Amino acid sequence: MEIVTTVAQVRERVKTWRKEGQTIGLVPTMGYLHEGHGSLITKARENNDKVVVSIFVNPMQFGPTEDLASYPRDLEKDSAFCESLGADLIFHPEPEEMYHKGFSSYVDMSILTEELCGLSRPVHFRGVCTVVSKLFHIVTPDRAYFGEKDAQQLAVIKHMVDDLNMDIEIIGCPIVREADGLAKSSRNTYLSPEERKAALVLSQSIRLGEEMVKNGERDAAKVIDAMTKKIESEPLAKIDYVKIVDALTMQQIPKIDRSILCAIAVYIGSTRLIDNFHASIEPCETN
Ligand code: PAJ
Repeated sequence: MEIVTTVAQVRERVKTWRKEGQTIGLVPTMGYLHEGHGSLITKARENNDKVVVSIFVNPMQFGPTEDLASYPRDLEKDSAFCESLGADLIFHPEPEEMYHKGFSSYVDMSILTEELCGLSRPVHFRGVCTVVSKLFHIVTPDRAYFGEKDAQQLAVIKHMVDDLNMDIEIIGCPIVREADGLAKSSRNTYLSPEERKAALVLSQSIRLGEEMVKNGERDAAKVIDAMTKKIESEPLAKIDYVKIVDALTMQQIPKIDRSILCAIAVYIGSTRLIDNFHASIEPCETN
């Protein structure tokens, strides 16, 4: 496995692979890798001749008051992890390599980005779409892998690829959780031991909502209300949002009568965590 830092180096490797007729899978990340990222790399390893992992804490997707400066980094550990999973190349550029002086082209999306995380993080998805487009142009992968933990991001990327006719298959991978249910996240490292316990309220409320829908509840407000009460029972938790949206459009819906995404964002102390579940209801199943 090799680590490169420039666009030119990636292009050179990709050119050689293409000449040999090799397929390429890309796993875009911001590093501080855990088994959630690992599941994406493993999947990419299964389905492609070559696997590229990008590790880039993308300044453009952080708001001015967010955690860009404190975002955890550990390239040494990350590269050992990627190597153990059989990755071929890590692309680890400096911000200046990705955003040269005078950079002024952006990929922006309306509608899907206006709900959920897009509401509380107004510049976030513009930064994500722009950097992921750049990575797609640089690596030219056949397939790219994204986690369902960031469900809105996955929907936005799928939509972008469709809107802009990018010839890349987007593969969604299930949420990987800690043994006690907490969704794995690089940001979990911010949590104190007390906050780590409190953070369990996210997955507990997700399980509660999921059970209600499984047991036939079709009134979105009732599910949201029960989940909200559960989260509010934890004194260290502060809700950003608890919402049920159409899984394709990300628009809020009153009735659970289609493919839906139930997504939450909750502050535990000053750490913002997200979680979600999907449900697919046939229209004839509604009461
Ligand atoms: P990052 O938060 O590092 O996540 C990289 C990828 O790993 C994303 O697709 C994310 O959904 C996935 N992932 C994270 N935790 C996961 C978990 N517990 N289970 C399954 N998948 C998980 O998301 C980003 O970086 C950035 O926005 C990026 C797409 C790289 C653009 O900068």
